[in-house]
Amino acid sequence: NRVVVFISGGGSNMVALADACASPGFPAEIVAVISDKATAGGLARAAERGIATHVFERRSYTGKAEHEAAILDALNALSPDIICLAGYMRLLSGEFIKRHEGRILNIHPSLLPLFPGLHTHQRAIDAGMMIAGCTVHFVTEGMDEGPIVAQSVVPIVPGDTADSLAARVLTVEHRTYPQALRLLAEGAVGMGADGRVERKAYV
Ligand code: GRF
Repeated sequence: NRVVVFISGGGSNMVALADACASPGFPAEIVAVISDKATAGGLARAAERGIATHVFERRSYTGKAEHEAAILDALNALSPDIICLAGYMRLLSGEFIKRHEGRILNIHPSLLPLFPGLHTHQRAIDAGMMIAGCTVHFVTEGMDEGPIVAQSVVPIVPGDTADSLAARVLTVEHRTYPQALRLLAEGAVGMGADGRVERKAYV
């Protein structure tokens, strides 16, 4: 399975996916990393792993449609089987998603459907939650609301700040995302026509 990873920042999830893909027998390979930011630290981390990188600065394009058209052109040439959004801080349009629906994953740092959007860790702490975690889901038109593929839980402990909780969640993100990618790459999960996840027999 050919995988393209989208990043906007440090790319620690991309690194976790790249390391998983590098292990023998893993059913996927990362063929490129795409970023909307030339300053994304993950670009250097991809390049040092020999992974091709492509930057599409948003401000280089007049509108969202042009920006996405340029990315879609690159994707046509890369012909990915799976797209992994990993710390990609831009919403994809419905047209973009339709082109790849059922093949786009995203990782979100909360236990969806709780806390979609930003500042998830502070919101969980403010709500008095005793657990937090991350969710890998299929990307659909709505933000952070696609069918769930994998989730992991971490405790929230007294004295936790958004930063200490973020660090604890990020650690499990790096385990959960590769597990979810493997499930999709092996055909063990798929996005059903009813928009729910089909957990197929383990193939
Ligand atoms: C992190 O907050 C992570 O929880 C979310 O995106 C942010 C950056 O991740 N998925 P990364 O280090 O760029 O993968």
